[in-house]
Amino acid sequence: MSGISSLWRTRYRHDAPQDLPDNPTLQLLMKHHSVRSYLPDELPAGALEAGIAAASSAATSSNLQAWSVVAVQDKETRKRLAELAGGQKHIEVAPVFLAWIVDLSRLERIAARRGLESEALDYEEMFLMGTLDTGIAAQNAVTAFESMGLGTVYIGGLRNHSEEVAQLLKLPPKTVAVVGLCVGRPEPSKQNGYKPRLSQKVVLHREVYDTTQEVDGIAEYDRADSAYQHEQGLPQRAWSETVAKRVESYRGLSGRHVMKAVLNRLGFSLK
Ligand SMILES: Cc1cc2nc3c(=O)[nH]c(=O)nc-3n(C[C@H](O)[C@H](O)[C@H](O)COP(=O)(O)O)c2cc1C
Repeated sequence: MSGISSLWRTRYRHDAPQDLPDNPTLQLLMKHHSVRSYLPDELPAGALEAGIAAASSAATSSNLQAWSVVAVQDKETRKRLAELAGGQKHIEVAPVFLAWIVDLSRLERIAARRGLESEALDYEEMFLMGTLDTGIAAQNAVTAFESMGLGTVYIGGLRNHSEEVAQLLKLPPKTVAVVGLCVGRPEPSKQNGYKPRLSQKVVLHREVYDTTQEVDGIAEYDRADSAYQHEQGLPQRAWSETVAKRVESYRGLSGRHVMKAVLNRLGFSLK
């Protein structure tokens, strides 16, 4: 598959507008798909460092650079992380696991070395900012790895047991691993297709927020997602029903409804 219009059709399951710009970066971004089956081969030389350089090159709020990343290659540690993330086998198989860390501890140390307090770090705004910067950095790394022919999958399951993860990775107070990322060579015979996404009539609001096309757009997406599930030999389901059930109760949070208390214990006051 190539060409932006073809990629658009695959992503949205309807025709592309005329005159879309087309370039290798757009094509790479639109070819994203999560990879959960990996060859055990190591990453090519320099791939990890190039991926992190891409992460470091992302924009960062006030240039505070309030994130860190722990690269785990040790098999036993990956095995334990796979268990902590709810038994996700791909963490064990992929040769590298990156734990993306919201890191307010470095700013605290920098202030302390200058004999200053770091009161601002106790506010929820700083945590929100750090989380946003960490996610932006991680996504730059994803794109960089994909540009090298590597595959990735984010692991939000890492937050199922944030305190155990912090202990395992020796994280200091005021840090938390907000998301993980498996990185490796995709196993070619076992790859997913390109999962469709909500159309722009649902997600792109012009000038002001507008839901007039939402019901139609969601119905179309339910059909597109069902077709994708069918093609992949996965159980049929309506996406809107799945997500509605997911948000119906706190139980849909897989035990993470206690996150605020966990973050408090990890040193984030969240005032
Ligand atoms: C923050 C975040 C956390 C995620 N956590 C997991 C996870 O724990 N396990 C997993 O298999 N996929 C995880 N994913 C991948 C999503 O399931 C995937 O991106 C989504 O279904 C869309 O599929 P695609 O990436 O192949 O297009 C996560 C994605 C994001 C952005």
